[in-house]
Amino acid sequence: MASLNDIRSTFLGYFKRNGHEVVPSSPLVPRNDPTLMFTNSGMVQFKNLFTGVEHRGYSRAATAQKCVRAGGKHNDLDNVGYTARHHTFFEMLGNFSFGDYFKAEAIPFAWELITAEFGIPKDKLYTTIYHTDDEAFEIWKKVGVPEDRIIRIATSDNFWQMGPTGPCGPCTEIFYDHGDHIWGGPPGSPDEDGDRFIEIWNIVFMQNEQFEDGSMRALDMQSIDTGMGLERIGALLQGSHDNYDTDLFKTLIEASAQATGVDPYGDRNVHHRVIADHLRSTAFLIADGVMPSNEGRGYVLRRIMRRAMRHGALLGARDPVMHRLVPSLVSQMGQHYPELTRAQALIEETLSLEETRFRQTLDRGLKLLDEELSDLPEDADLPGRTAFKLYDTFGFPLDLTQDALREKGRMVDTEGFEAAMAEQKAKARAAWSGSGAAADHAVWFDIADSFGATDFLGYDTEKAEGQVLALILDGAEVDRLDAGQQGWIVANQTPFYGEAGGQVGDTGVIRRIADRDEVALVEDTRKFADSRVIAHKVTVESGRLTKAEPVEMEVDHARRARIRANHSATHLLHEALRRALGDHVAQRGSLNAPDRLRFDFSHSKGLSLEEIRAVEAEVNAFIRQNAPVETRVMTPDAARDLGAQALFGEKYGDEVRVVSMGALPGSGKGTDGRTYSIELCGGTHVQRTGDIGVFVMLGDSASSAGVRRVEALTGAAAFDHLSAQDHRLSQVASALKAQPAEAADRVQALLTERRALENEVTQLRKQLAMAGNSGAATSDREVNGIAFCAQVLDGVTGKDLPGLIDEHKARMGASAAVLLMAEAGGKVAVAAGVSDDLTDRLSAVDLLKAAVVELGGKGGGGRPDMAQGGGKDIGGAERAIAAAEDLLKGV
Ligand code: ALA
Repeated sequence: MASLNDIRSTFLGYFKRNGHEVVPSSPLVPRNDPTLMFTNSGMVQFKNLFTGVEHRGYSRAATAQKCVRAGGKHNDLDNVGYTARHHTFFEMLGNFSFGDYFKAEAIPFAWELITAEFGIPKDKLYTTIYHTDDEAFEIWKKVGVPEDRIIRIATSDNFWQMGPTGPCGPCTEIFYDHGDHIWGGPPGSPDEDGDRFIEIWNIVFMQNEQFEDGSMRALDMQSIDTGMGLERIGALLQGSHDNYDTDLFKTLIEASAQATGVDPYGDRNVHHRVIADHLRSTAFLIADGVMPSNEGRGYVLRRIMRRAMRHGALLGARDPVMHRLVPSLVSQMGQHYPELTRAQALIEETLSLEETRFRQTLDRGLKLLDEELSDLPEDADLPGRTAFKLYDTFGFPLDLTQDALREKGRMVDTEGFEAAMAEQKAKARAAWSGSGAAADHAVWFDIADSFGATDFLGYDTEKAEGQVLALILDGAEVDRLDAGQQGWIVANQTPFYGEAGGQVGDTGVIRRIADRDEVALVEDTRKFADSRVIAHKVTVESGRLTKAEPVEMEVDHARRARIRANHSATHLLHEALRRALGDHVAQRGSLNAPDRLRFDFSHSKGLSLEEIRAVEAEVNAFIRQNAPVETRVMTPDAARDLGAQALFGEKYGDEVRVVSMGALPGSGKGTDGRTYSIELCGGTHVQRTGDIGVFVMLGDSASSAGVRRVEALTGAAAFDHLSAQDHRLSQVASALKAQPAEAADRVQALLTERRALENEVTQLRKQLAMAGNSGAATSDREVNGIAFCAQVLDGVTGKDLPGLIDEHKARMGASAAVLLMAEAGGKVAVAAGVSDDLTDRLSAVDLLKAAVVELGGKGGGGRPDMAQGGGKDIGGAERAIAAAEDLLKGV
């Protein structure tokens, strides 16, 4: 019996043999369609190929596409588990032609695959066509379908549209007759909703494009889009009409039975079915970057998870079960979808965390529900207020309450629920506006209230489409931004990172989808309204941006790559510093910009050259290790238990991202014994440490008391810095006529030599001066019984004067006074000295002052035996000496 994996391979192999490119499934979060919550059919990733906006290197493709229908228009969640064919997650097999083949080939391709490859008996098959499509009718006849089995359908059932706008066209469907033991009639008959005739394949002839105003145009090229649910065709080929009877689902149901100890196929089978289905959507959504939260996609995921968890509890499981089923799923689907294998640990942890937390309130919530119900008249709806309390206090999504009531045949007053929700929002808002926050913040909270949080896609992609939700000009909401205007734009989702945690905001471009020439430059991205709203600061270059239109948003990739490298290097740096300097090292601030990184940390003294080199070497060693950078999501407590470094002063929510990188050899001293760096971080990171390239530190400085700051470079910036330094060193070496490696020794030798020469010069100058080299007055004389020497010197500097004074005093002996003047650079340095036996009668300071006045100076100072000062006019030298002599005469 062919397994679902075999059937998928047969399908793709068949179309590959027929000239089709086998294209991997696109992610569940659509990159190119802002109106879709989740990818819900195979054609989503090819949307722009049908309209001719985009071209790729192939015109025929085949895919097995991951699809989720659990939110928005196509919401199958409520029925899952209770029916044979509803799923939140399923795989759609499809073949596509982009202006290549059309009806005449598409129909025979499908017929041959179904009847020859899959061997489905022809007499079990029926087809439908759009009522006016005679061409399709003829082709079906030609491949051998009897006329009475080609049914014309006039309704939209056979005209396929992806949404209110976009490519569309008539379609033809293939039906399988499960036999008259099952109730139901052929398509178009009054009993068509029964389970007997089941649609297995839809082939769309893409030939029109639908516009918002209701008009439709013929597309330039005619294309093919087909879709066949793998689970459905799988059930059929495995002899059942129930998708949950396929090999894959049986494995999951049996895993659930094993984990809960409840018979897989007994009367509680429905719970196992819900669990099996929800396990798949949960795991694939997490693998594609969706995390449980209270808004948008994350909330749809949470609803699915909690619904499954309640069914696990209904099976009597006391402890979390969902995470224990993940290995079964990975063994079934991980080979075709490697992203599932890669994310296995993340999926298990996320499930376990969510279930542990939810179980803390589940029982109490269910008890409250029972009590409320017992107080109500039979058949009365559950009041909306109670459903809201279950939501607000016990974390019961509305559909979980509805699911629980379904078993009792009861309903919820949903209007009352919505009213209670609106009332609570209004209260929260009122509390906030009383807090006195700045008025322009109101704009952001208005946006958050109206539209919820912006969905950040930037961990997984740097380009995505979004829908413009709000435009802000001068602090107020506007309907459009025109060329030349600078304002803010908020979309429902964005790949742009809003500045946070030291990482700068992204820049890039936003283009209107309608006309890609109309461009707004994104100069910065920030978060507002408690970080719920991500807003892009833009200048509109050309054209305009208007509210509610789809836009293409593209981050400046090169700049983001540099930021990523700097951010990841900061984590390595943090750990290297902690290991080199001690556990007191804690982050006090950081900047992760495109051109450099800066890291402030607690440490009281400067880093030595050796410490800097050691830290730098360690960071580079972990870069070369090229280890994968892993991100997980957990509670702050779990993260701290793991030893994750938390940011100083940062507020953390219920869940935190934990970024780990670097593998320690053996059981090293890592915080978890294996991993080098583990940090709480919401930023964007490289995939492997090797992506950082190279790391250089630019030295450290004091930032504030007890906080040091280091700056560093990575990648090309680091290389450029090193190579510029090397170039300068070569220049120095060549000037020194040395090899670069010898330059430092050579400079050291030169410095020693220079110091020796300086000493020698000083000595020689003194000798020259003592020898009485030129001067206005040089003679020794005696004044009032005191030996007096006055000299004007040149060739010496002010700092030589004290030494010369001492020498003169020594030469002249007791009762001596000396006055020396030296001219340099238009200034006059003056020094005076008095021998010790005279200082009680005459102070060198007075002698100096008497002279300095005559030299145009203002004074000086010193001790009674030695004073120094300065003047401006050496022309006063004679007068200065005379003034000194006058002073001597008076003592
Ligand atoms: N896009 C078509 C569908 O989803 C094939 O049914």
